This record gives sequence, C-alpha cells and structure tokens, in this order.
Amino acid sequence: MDGPSGSGKSSASRGVARALGLRYLDTGAMYRAVTWWMLTHEVDLADPAAIAARAGEPRLEMSTDPDAPGVRLDGEPADGPIRSAEVTRAVSAVSAVPEVRQRLVALQRELIGAGGIVVEGRDIGTVVAPDAPVKVYLTASEEARATRRNAELTGSTVAAQRVELARRDTLDSTRKTDPLAMAADAVELDTTPMTLDEVIAEVLRLVKERG
Ligand code: DC
Repeated sequence: MDGPSGSGKSSASRGVARALGLRYLDTGAMYRAVTWWMLTHEVDLADPAAIAARAGEPRLEMSTDPDAPGVRLDGEPADGPIRSAEVTRAVSAVSAVPEVRQRLVALQRELIGAGGIVVEGRDIGTVVAPDAPVKVYLTASEEARATRRNAELTGSTVAAQRVELARRDTLDSTRKTDPLAMAADAVELDTTPMTLDEVIAEVLRLVKERG
C-alpha cells in the first residue's frame, strides 16, 4: 500500500491486516527511526555522505502485530520520538540517501519473507515487493490530507499541515533513489470522499478479486 502522507495508508493498512489476520509493516516508521538515530547522534543532516557513512549503525526491531505495531531502536522503544515534528521535518533528507534505502529495503524484504503481510510506504509496489499480489496506491486531495494530519496533532493548523505535506510530497517524489511512485499494476484509490471503513472494505474487495 503506497501513497503520499496523509492519504490514510496507516489506518487502512492496519485495518486490512486485522481483518485478514495478516501481519503489518509500517516502513515509514523505519525511515523515521533512522532519522531519529541520526539526530541523536548529531550527524549533519545536510551532508548525505555523513548520513551514508553511519547508515549501517542503527539497530531496528519492528513489531509486525497490527494491534501493537512498534519500533525499537538500539533496544529502546522509539514510537514517541519518531512522530515528533523534528523527525517529520528531517525524514525526507535521510530517506533520500541511497545507503539508507538499501539497508532498509533489505530489512523490509527480510520481514516480508514469504508474505502474509500488509506493507505500507512509498516504494513498496515499485521496489520493495514488485511481486506483491495486490498493490493499492492511495491518494486524497491536499485539503483532505492536511485536515486528517491536523486532527492527529496538537498545536497545529490545517494551513500549516498543507505547507508541510506539500514540502514532503515534493521531496519524496523528486528524489533520485526510489521516489514515491505508483506501480504500473497498482489500483489507485482516491480516498477524499471515503470514510476509513469504506477504504478498508474497498481494499478487502480488491484482495478477494486479485489476491
Ligand atoms: O509514512 P510516513 O509519513 O511515516 O513516512 C515518513 C517518511 O519516510 C516519508 O516522508 C518518506 C519516507 N519513506 C520512504 O522514503 N519510503 C517508504 N517506503 C516509506 C517512507
């Protein structure tokens, strides 16, 4: 399940995994955890070579239980800090570094294993799991995405979220290595007018039809 920030990927992927008794993997959390590690180790995020040099160091452990997803970083739970504004601002720069992507894509493929998992991200259908039996690309209008993101945060405004989302979309879809893109064989779902339950029902229908 791929798509831009705020398209509803996380809630929909978890809901689908739960409904089908599958595992769930949030690959954005992995990029966020590496970003948090770089920040706490005072790596200069304006210097891609400095990020690349340390890309192999953070130790990540992912929970793939859709009822208790989470990430441990060097043995410590990191679910709080990876959602901070500081990490959100910096994550696109870190996830554009090829050495970071190589490492995380390898880890993601290991976790995916033989399948039985719903994976959300930006490059899952195109790069990480090109043979996935069902690929969904979620979109939503900028306004809808900013409104949803704003509702999840405190001390923010829809206008501020709109600026932040547009900035991240541009960085994520124009980077050289594995940019945000829809796979040729993915089904595009515009969630703007849909409730979460409707999105989940539609994906379950696609799984039945294609899976
Ligand atoms: O889904 P999210 O907002 O938590 O993702 C955070 C960032 O991680 C996103 O701005 C781009 C990056 N990302 C990526 O490059 N590739 C993925 N498969 C998932 C996320």
